[in-house]
Amino acid sequence: MAEKKSQAGIRAWVKERLDLSSFDYEVPGHANTFLFSLGGVTLISFLILIISGIILAQYYVPNPEVANSSIRVLMKETKMGSILRGVHFWSAQVAMVTVILHLLRVFVYGSYKRPRELNWLLGVGLFFGMVGLYYTGTILKWDQEAFEALAHTIEAAKQVGVFGFFFNQQFARGVPLLTRIYSIHTSMLPLVMIGLLVGHLLLVKSLKISPLPWNSGKSSDTQMFSQHLVKLSGYGFILLGIVTILATFLRPELGPVPVEGIEATKPPWLFLSIFSIENWTGLQGLIWTSILLLLGLIAVPFIDRAKSNNLKERKIIVALGIFMVIFVLVLTINGYVAKPEQHLDMGKPVQTENKPDKLENSVKKEAVSEKLTDNEEQELGSTVPPEIQQLNAALVVIGEIKKAINTKEIQIAREKAIQLDEILDAINLQIAVKDKKRAADLKEHVHELSEILEKTQPNLNEANDLLVHSKESVEEAIKLFE
Ligand code: HEM
Repeated sequence: MAEKKSQAGIRAWVKERLDLSSFDYEVPGHANTFLFSLGGVTLISFLILIISGIILAQYYVPNPEVANSSIRVLMKETKMGSILRGVHFWSAQVAMVTVILHLLRVFVYGSYKRPRELNWLLGVGLFFGMVGLYYTGTILKWDQEAFEALAHTIEAAKQVGVFGFFFNQQFARGVPLLTRIYSIHTSMLPLVMIGLLVGHLLLVKSLKISPLPWNSGKSSDTQMFSQHLVKLSGYGFILLGIVTILATFLRPELGPVPVEGIEATKPPWLFLSIFSIENWTGLQGLIWTSILLLLGLIAVPFIDRAKSNNLKERKIIVALGIFMVIFVLVLTINGYVAKPEQHLDMGKPVQTENKPDKLENSVKKEAVSEKLTDNEEQELGSTVPPEIQQLNAALVVIGEIKKAINTKEIQIAREKAIQLDEILDAINLQIAVKDKKRAADLKEHVHELSEILEKTQPNLNEANDLLVHSKESVEEAIKLFE
């Protein structure tokens, strides 16, 4: 009895302090259905993304030289690191799917009609903000897929002239592009999104939820908004459970560090439709499709101006919408079955008569923001075969490991050893084609090196010996491609 009394007391105390009664206003019954909760589910995914993103940021190094390996270290060496990354990845997928479904629900139900046009526009901003977050997140893992995605964007930015200023290295010469993209992903876009979201939700409250299209504006029953929140919290827990299970059993992929001069990947599912268009029309098609999509979405409430949101009176626009969805699905399936294609001249052998457009190098140069002398530029953009470029990169990393061992910075040495392993993994096959034994030796040395460095008290003399052997092997391998 006394316990019951104290529970009621706590509830009353909380209710008074938080003034939860402000959530006790009436909303139409249909606001509590799943279709009308899709915006809320997107919001919950967004919150999970922010929380998991803040934790991820403690482990990620936004520098092109170590970005990829910092994620690898997180996944291999940090407790629950792989699950943390998986939760972020899977909630991003869920958020993208639910925001698209929410947009479609709003479209089909005509919920963008007067007086909600402005909220539709805020929604369009939120949609492109989400796509921007998804895209910049893909770049951060800094593997082949990320590298090629950035190469496309740099090239597209060049084609749109002054509007592409952000992707021009001159904009901030001293800062790697990857580092700037990191700041966009972790501060600029989330801040813009939060601003848009506040406006979006305030408008939902003040304009009230739209009526059902077949009820001529009359709602049959009403419920308390607080009930809607309780239901949403339930969806939130289910969602968190699903993304944690997915994160545990389906770990997101992470490719090796990028190789210059090739186009060997396809974009993630969200961009497969524009990838198909790019296959047919080139980069110009990709740029125009994105602009048309933005303009088309902005135009919706201004094209469909009839007062009623009744489906029967909006047959043409709804049919157009359905056609667009089918078209995007077909393009996505086509992109899924298509093979990776060369769009940017990146795949041409570097020593061809026509000089390549140096994009492959400019991406890396812009990404690491090195100030290169004319001679160095010539060297990077000209006749050095990609295998030698990579083996040279391996030599640089070997030098860095040696330095880290000398200064007893074991953690850095470990990270660099992982990077070395990846560089060599990416070209081991090419070496094996020329000299099987050399490839096997090299792999063994680098593997042993990683093992030694991973120990709590690594034997640094042994590590140094292995470094010397590895360096010799890499130098021998370079001769194979000269
Ligand atoms: C981060 C992305 C977004 C979040 C978190 C979000 C959140 C919400 C929420 C919670 C609602 C209340 C009703 C519901 O859930 O259906 C809502 C309504 C609405 N949303 Fe969004 N939304 C987002 C993106 C969008 C997009 C992309 C559009 C369209 C381009 C859009 C347009 C609208 C409109 C017009 C309403 C009013 C609907 C009505 O009154 O029935 N929203 N949004």
